[in-house]
Amino acid sequence: MTAQAPAKRLYIKTYGCQMNVYDSERMADVLAPLGYGLTDTPEGADLVVLNTCHIREKATEKVYSELGQIKRLKDKADGAMTIAVAGCVAQAEGEEILRRQPAVDLVVGPQAYHQLPELIARAHRARGERLAAEFAADEKFDALPIARNPSGVTAFLTVQEGCDKFCTFCVVPYTRGAEWSRPVEAILAEARDLAAKGVREVTLLGQNVNAYAGEGGLAGLVRRLAQIEGLDRIRYTTSHPRDMDEALIAAHGEVEALMPYLHLPVQAGSDKILKAMNRGHTAEGYLRLVEKIRAARPDIALSGDFIVGFPGERDADFEATLQLVREVGYGSAFTFKYSRRPGTPAAALPGQVAEEVKEERLARLNALIEAQQRAFNAAQAGRVLPVLFEKPGRHPGQLVGRSPYLQAVHADAPDRLIGRIVPVRIESASRMSLAGALELEPA
Ligand code: 5AD
Ligand code: SF4
Repeated sequence: MTAQAPAKRLYIKTYGCQMNVYDSERMADVLAPLGYGLTDTPEGADLVVLNTCHIREKATEKVYSELGQIKRLKDKADGAMTIAVAGCVAQAEGEEILRRQPAVDLVVGPQAYHQLPELIARAHRARGERLAAEFAADEKFDALPIARNPSGVTAFLTVQEGCDKFCTFCVVPYTRGAEWSRPVEAILAEARDLAAKGVREVTLLGQNVNAYAGEGGLAGLVRRLAQIEGLDRIRYTTSHPRDMDEALIAAHGEVEALMPYLHLPVQAGSDKILKAMNRGHTAEGYLRLVEKIRAARPDIALSGDFIVGFPGERDADFEATLQLVREVGYGSAFTFKYSRRPGTPAAALPGQVAEEVKEERLARLNALIEAQQRAFNAAQAGRVLPVLFEKPGRHPGQLVGRSPYLQAVHADAPDRLIGRIVPVRIESASRMSLAGALELEPA
């Protein structure tokens, strides 16, 4: 087979969550038939797409500084470059982007990616095409090509979008809209297609993935996916404690393909703050839930998201967060300083916390979580873990894969083991990864 050189170069930069990573792949797919091939740098690109994130102020500001740099490249190319801003910043402040950065040709929100080819054609005719995402999400999925060419042995698969929870700090219910679930059959078809192309592990994506409302809920979906030949590992992210129902907990105990690693954000450990965040559960409620999940699947490891410095957070509230972290014991976690987002209820709350206080709390929380992560990784030493090898490592003769707990694992192994799940004896651990040796040389 001869690969035809793509006529036009496409550069996509992705910010933020895994949903954006998935969406970027879909955008590349939808543009490929127009002759766009991916390139690693914006220099010389015909089309630059920034797939943006709006979750915190810093993420948003990064987009504008990146746009400034790309504008210089566009000037150097005498304007022969189309610049598109996609993702949640496009959705939330499309007009402002066009006003602040005249080099931008088009903005496109997450519900409208299937219209990219048409939008780009229109942008070539007239600058400043605007698009509000008034389109139904099912239209988006129906219109995007399903025949993807996954780059490796793992893939993301969006099953749900949007959020109805309205945590008071969060822009997602506004940028991604109401909760919406893809039909089971469409997901199964995509999963079978991925498996046929060599994908061994899927991560089901949704802003509120365990609120999946297709037939049978997320538990039912996981059980059906587990029956697909070749799909050996299933993960899902990100979940809300309120949607962790009995059926899903039971699935963790019964479905072998469901990996024993769960991202279950709690955000804070003080009931007063949880209430002000509109989380809909207490610290005790979360701890009881974790206990139940561990009863169903004793070897499960947890990760989470935490926000420090939410309005009204006093020292005692922050101590309650540390205490909750100590009680749960996380395999890893993401930590954030509260970022005031215009238009969200928390932005108007009294008791905004000083930046230095946020910094100091973040450092203390990070130290605790880092220690837990190190201890969790170190505890794997001496164990034999099934590792799904994904790609060559940095050293010759080495492969990198993932443990069930999503730890990166390095081991000397032949290339033919890429895409296979192989027992590896773990010999050493660092904060970010593990190293080991093949337990036995597989045929
Ligand atoms: N400030 C800081 N962190 C936030 N998150 C969401 N909104 C904000 C905000 N305004 C965090 C939450 C969420 C994760 C994706 O980002 O912890 O779970
Ligand atoms: Fe944002 Fe809360 Fe919805 Fe998560 S559950 S996306 S934090 S509103």
